[in-house]
Amino acid sequence: MKYHKVLVTGGAGFIGSHTIDLLLKKGYSVKILDNLQERVHPKGKPDYIPNEVEFIKGDVANPKDLLKGLKGVDAVYHLAAYQDYLPDFSHFIHTNTESSALMFELILQHKLPIKKIIFASSQAVAGDGKWKCSVHGKFWAVQRPLVQLERGEWDLKCPNCGKPAKNVLMTEDIARPTTTYGVSKYVIELLADVLGKKHGIPTVCMRYTYVQGPRNSIYNAYSGIARVFAQRILNNKRPVLFEDGLGLKDYVSVYDVAAANLLVLEDNRANNRVFFVGSGRGYTNLSFAKIILRMFDSSLEPEIPGIFRLGDTRSTVSSIKAISKLGWKPKVSLEKSMQQYKEYLESLGPIEDRSDEAFKKMMALGVIRKTKKT
Ligand SMILES: NC(=O)c1ccc[n+]([C@@H]2O[C@H](COP(=O)([O-])OP(=O)(O)OC[C@H]3O[C@@H](n4cnc5c(N)ncnc54)[C@H](O)[C@@H]3O)[C@@H](O)[C@H]2O)c1
Repeated sequence: MKYHKVLVTGGAGFIGSHTIDLLLKKGYSVKILDNLQERVHPKGKPDYIPNEVEFIKGDVANPKDLLKGLKGVDAVYHLAAYQDYLPDFSHFIHTNTESSALMFELILQHKLPIKKIIFASSQAVAGDGKWKCSVHGKFWAVQRPLVQLERGEWDLKCPNCGKPAKNVLMTEDIARPTTTYGVSKYVIELLADVLGKKHGIPTVCMRYTYVQGPRNSIYNAYSGIARVFAQRILNNKRPVLFEDGLGLKDYVSVYDVAAANLLVLEDNRANNRVFFVGSGRGYTNLSFAKIILRMFDSSLEPEIPGIFRLGDTRSTVSSIKAISKLGWKPKVSLEKSMQQYKEYLESLGPIEDRSDEAFKKMMALGVIRKTKKT
């Protein structure tokens, strides 16, 4: 075993807890630093956290708490993050990015023997990536203008001829975030690269796509397509699709993500690199909604009311070539993953739907907008 004890920040959460299960299976000692964020854990510390794991309740952006977490470990997964679609911009930077800089600061200040840090980045760093016009070839995507979205024109357009273009598989060299969350994660990648190399601490940044599966908190109604759809369906409400429901998204099982996390911890070929961790395959939001509806045996139809979320990407499908070269590939299909999520939800008992309240708030804040019919 390469490491003695591993710190997992955000280890009470979805990806963290599955990563911990694998770490324990492999014989690692594990420590968690997690502040049990109210929005994710309104009922407190989840039962699935194993007893043998040392648990510290604390904030990753608080130097005292983070130092407590970092002491006595030699590897770190930094997964704790603030993630939603509200315009509380400084929160993303404070929790996600500042804590990452603070981690390097404390390691140097206290001469902590940390041998590797794995950062949770996100596909959001790549924004809309590159698109391709059938006549003029590939171009860098720029955010779709608000007036275009208000007209209900969803595809990115070729800058030369203005015709709708097609998305291209995204690769790790692309960094064009369109949200503050994406910016917060991109700066983490930059810090990992610059500070990690300068101070001889190997880092890996994992750009997860849309992660699915058991333990994905049912409580946060502000983000997470599967949980929002599932909350609605379980309460006999139609899943609501943004835009025309035809944007493509890339889904990956949390079990595959945990396996990728373990791989990059143990394989030095991953050091100082960024990886997409996805399926490499796109599903429209509409087909995704239909998969979930089928899974729940629901006769409801998805609703497409002509609304959109400001700063949303249109179609994001990632190439998984780089991580596949290290021997990883996704093993769990989307259908299987949704089945596992459904079984998890059923084990929780009745589930309240807060998505209408969240939608209203996001509309009031201008995060969700309506198209303007001409
Ligand atoms: N789930 C996805 O689809 C997805 C996709 C891309 C990237 N990511 C990234 O992966 C990481 C893990 O995501 P997840 O889905 O497991 O989220 P999650 O919400 O289930 O878990 C995050 C954990 O971090 C904790 N946390 C939040 N703020 C904290 C703070 N200030 N101090 C300490 N703990 C704090 C929460 O209590 C929670 O337990 C995040 O960095 C996220 O941005 C997730």
